[in-house]
Amino acid sequence: MIMRILANDGIDKIAADELAARGFEIDRGHYAKEELKAQIKDFDVLIVRSATKVDQEIIDAAAQGDLRLIVRAGVGIDNIDAAYAQMRGIEVRNTPNASSDSVAELVLGHMFSLARFISIANVSMRDGKWNKKEYEGVELAGKTLGIIGFGRIGRSLAEKASALGMDVMFHDICVKNDEKFEYAEFDALIKNADFISVHTPFTGEALIGEAQFRKMKEGVFIINAARGNVIDEKALVDALNTDRVRGAGIDVFEKEPAVNLELVRHPKACVTPHIGAATREAQMRIGRETAETVLDFFDNIIDKAM
Ligand code: MLT
Repeated sequence: MIMRILANDGIDKIAADELAARGFEIDRGHYAKEELKAQIKDFDVLIVRSATKVDQEIIDAAAQGDLRLIVRAGVGIDNIDAAYAQMRGIEVRNTPNASSDSVAELVLGHMFSLARFISIANVSMRDGKWNKKEYEGVELAGKTLGIIGFGRIGRSLAEKASALGMDVMFHDICVKNDEKFEYAEFDALIKNADFISVHTPFTGEALIGEAQFRKMKEGVFIINAARGNVIDEKALVDALNTDRVRGAGIDVFEKEPAVNLELVRHPKACVTPHIGAATREAQMRIGRETAETVLDFFDNIIDKAM
């Protein structure tokens, strides 16, 4: 029997070729919600990136047919109602390994940009200004980086920052010890860090809001390449306006792509449009990991159950 895959947000060519070589039929068409609801029952696997929202209606439609697996080609699965899918007997997987270095490098890019005004100087020079005197920055070396969320991305960032001479501390709800890096309680971390980077999923409530900003060091830099809602954007804009936060490097937003323009246009913000995983290398690895996930599911899980 031929297995059918719908790659609703596209798929890397190498991954598609590999799956096709193993007998899967791949549809790369993008269906909007109503069309997707009508089509999904004819597929065994749904592969999505962040554009397709896999909500309960899509899952109900899928459960009427053959769908057994949803793969999120990426890390965050907040666009998939994973608990509901599991309840309806559909497995949900992601590709957690593929993009760590790319995201960590983007965070470092934001840190350099904030510390040395690279982004804002670029804008002002294009405007014909020579603001040399306004751009006395700081070095990263010798500063303390506080990493909140010490998974693959947090760890990759820790390694790279420490190679630059930064002191690294981390906070994580699961990991409390590490041979190389210092664990800190949440409040101690936000009080003592010169740079703070968040690497946690959004769990329904902002991790950093007004109360947390008040506890931070005056003039801290903050970076978010995780999920927009992890930091309360309004509180962040207030903290930038009062100089509590000296600069914010933001790749992810509470609403995308209809972003908060007050934040995006803030002179102390360095912003990018959710491009943490947007490197050739990460996308190739995501493709490979996606193909491996599908093959592993059908080779091991399904075959063994039969
Ligand atoms: C991810 O969760 O993999 C990243 O945020 C990249 C993305 O969603 O585009």
